[in-house]
Amino acid sequence: MIYLKTDEEIELLRISNQIVAKTLAEIAKVIKPGVSTADLDKIAEEYIRDNGGVPGFLGYHGYPKSICTSVNDEVVHGIPSEKVILKDGDIVSVDCGVYKNGFHGDSAYTFCVGDVNPEIVALLKTTKESLYKGIEQATEGRRLGDVGHAIQSYCEERGYSVVREMIGHGVGRNLHEGPEVPNYGRRGNGVMLKSGMTIAIEPMINMGKRQLTFDKDGWTTRTIDKKASAHFEHSIAIRQGKADILSSFEYIEQVLGSKAL
Ligand code: MF3
Ligand code: CO
Repeated sequence: MIYLKTDEEIELLRISNQIVAKTLAEIAKVIKPGVSTADLDKIAEEYIRDNGGVPGFLGYHGYPKSICTSVNDEVVHGIPSEKVILKDGDIVSVDCGVYKNGFHGDSAYTFCVGDVNPEIVALLKTTKESLYKGIEQATEGRRLGDVGHAIQSYCEERGYSVVREMIGHGVGRNLHEGPEVPNYGRRGNGVMLKSGMTIAIEPMINMGKRQLTFDKDGWTTRTIDKKASAHFEHSIAIRQGKADILSSFEYIEQVLGSKAL
């Protein structure tokens, strides 16, 4: 189901998404070689609860943690663990959800750990830029194919591949609701966007082949060729002329300073 939101409901979605944004900034402060992904999870859960929210992912279809942490060739849904210690040169996608006032926030950012190979930094930059290319298309009267096409063409022109098995989604009272939001598509195809729709756009872009494998833990997805994958996500509200971005990377990028992508 696609639920159109009132202006008041969109403000509640903004509150949840702003907590997500600030949680990701708390994580940005501590990411460095030697930190475990379980440490990041603990910081996130504490910050979310201190701000009157509940981790939106915890318990979702049995998901065991508050954030997803996907390292290097992991695409999405990596489970935080004391055994996963970040090391110099890694990249880690941190995906975070907050539930508050009956609405979900959902946003993700891929961080560099120490010094990362410039080719991988370029993948991260392109993926982040492609998210904004998609958002540019996400206005009243356009179609989801326009959004997917913008992301796909931007990334493929630069030699990267677009994951198909996982896609973005509507977001609201449910973490996942309609419509489905693929990161690929054809111009002029798909669901027509209407003011008041709220969606999470989340390109997952691979350095090599687009195909994935699924780990035995039932969650972690990784690239079939073990090459790096990047993931950025914003929750937005559809409006006439220009989308309203409800989450934010500003707090993260303040923390990262000159090291921001
Ligand atoms: N942003 C992720 C998604 O939409 C959140 C998944 S959370 C989990 O797929 F709870 F399913 F892990
Ligand atoms: Co999402």
